[in-house]
Amino acid sequence: MAATVSPPDPDELPVPELAEDATRCAERLAAADRVLLASHIDADGLTSAAVASTALERSGIPHEVVFEKQLDAASVAGIADRAYDTVLFTDFGSGQLDHIAAHERAGHFEPVIADHHQPASGEAADGGDCETAYHLNPLLRGLNGASELSGAGAAYVLARALEPVGAEREAGHAADNRDLAALAVVGAVGDMQASGGELHGANAGIVAEGVAAGVLAEGQDLAVYGKQTRPLPKLLEYATDTFVPGISNDEAGAVEFLRSLDLDLQDDDGDWRTWVDCSREEQTAITSGLVERAIRSGVPARKAETLVGTTYTLTEEPVGTELRDASEFSTLLNATARYERGDVGLAVCLGDRDEGLARARTLLRDHRRNLSEGLDWVKRTGITREEHIQWFDAGDEIRETIVGIIAGMAVGTSGVDRSTPIIAFAHKSEAETKVSSRGTPALVGRGLDLSVVMGEAAAAVGGGGGGHDVAAGATIPAGEEAAFIETADRIVGDQLG
Ligand code: C5P
Ligand code: C5P
Ligand code: C5P
Ligand code: ZN
Repeated sequence: MAATVSPPDPDELPVPELAEDATRCAERLAAADRVLLASHIDADGLTSAAVASTALERSGIPHEVVFEKQLDAASVAGIADRAYDTVLFTDFGSGQLDHIAAHERAGHFEPVIADHHQPASGEAADGGDCETAYHLNPLLRGLNGASELSGAGAAYVLARALEPVGAEREAGHAADNRDLAALAVVGAVGDMQASGGELHGANAGIVAEGVAAGVLAEGQDLAVYGKQTRPLPKLLEYATDTFVPGISNDEAGAVEFLRSLDLDLQDDDGDWRTWVDCSREEQTAITSGLVERAIRSGVPARKAETLVGTTYTLTEEPVGTELRDASEFSTLLNATARYERGDVGLAVCLGDRDEGLARARTLLRDHRRNLSEGLDWVKRTGITREEHIQWFDAGDEIRETIVGIIAGMAVGTSGVDRSTPIIAFAHKSEAETKVSSRGTPALVGRGLDLSVVMGEAAAAVGGGGGGHDVAAGATIPAGEEAAFIETADRIVGDQLG
């Protein structure tokens, strides 16, 4: 049942640069009898799938959702075997066009891609080129895929372009997908796109639509993880991005600081309240006390100011739950996705507040423990420095699906230099090693592109990789770690030289 889409007015779409590509992709989806939706299994991939699936559902397009950890020759072949004529890839697909385009030419399926990763170029697996017609990616239109638009953001732009299909297929349907902006923001925050604390570029346009739709609020607040769910002392103890001596990483110090404020922050049983349980006045008193203490302890004023930043609140979610805060929501999703429970995270995104949410919270407890144990292991074991990079090999000590998050968290802790990219290895299988790498916006400004580093250094040892300039990964044959480091060190040296 081929519905036609009347092209949306580009000025009415959140990202005008992508309006044409989004419309073309929406038209192709509208012409499909059914769609296989394949998405990346992480916070951004889950929110991408939730946004796309909801939009397809509202437009009456039958579909099924599958997740993949990594798209490669084998997983693309598996998707081809599913015998769907139309496959929608979200939060991946661009980087695997070498495989996808070959399957398309072989007549296995027709791809529609909404992604933000570096597109593959050069020769495809069948010797043809890496071109495809229905491809929505900010990088193709001069926007930054690491900081301006996430996979969920690309899926959101597609969802907005799909609205006219909904209007046509289901007369009377309030064909407005702007409520999905909340999930798009969770995806962007989950991919760490809020650099400097705030979303910008195309992401800011999506935030504005979410605010207008009444599903999001943007505000200045204490920029610390856990305001919805952590008791105050834990909130401050674990806040280490802006390190406050005597409070950060210091439970007794955090308690003592809170007591010194002369506020009533504990209930009758002595349990501490959470941030969102405090009044605005109490919050202001804690924030000013904290900034004051930081400055008195020698933290430069400009650094102390970063204790306050932009926060994104999902206004329709209950206060005091992980779902209320974009950053806590994204961590909850990673807690499902990185442990192969994408089904649980997707259910939560789609509105399951009973069994799905309870399962996700159980997974979150384990995820938190794994992150903190992993980070402790890195601190204990230490890091090896090369000329231009620093690295550690976690072997079996850290799960390969979270070694990248931990590498990112390690940057800035003692012994880990912020001015050098970090590379981490973890055991993936008997035959393969997972590689993760993280940089900083400042290094990217000086020429660092980790997606090139991972791609080329992996190719040199018979593996493959890619990602973003500031964060990328690879899979390499086990035993090639030393050769990989040598090549990566040289490429980073060239980029920064
Ligand atoms: O596959 P994907 O794009 O979702 O992965 C993004 C990864 O890159 C996330 O794990 C995120 O933590 C990391 N990242 C980062 N810093 C940035 C952008 C992304 O650490 N500025
Ligand atoms: O996992 P996500 O990318 O959302 O984490 C963002 C930051 O939040 C991490 O770098 C970490 O400092 C903090 N975090 C935390 N406790 C968690 C998860 C994340 O303190 N359980
Ligand atoms: O796994 P990790 O969090 O380190 O991934 C960082 C980025 O690199 C993600 O965007 C991921 O999709 C990408 N990546 C890739 N190819 C790989 C591994 C990771 O493109 N083999
Ligand atoms: Zn992503």
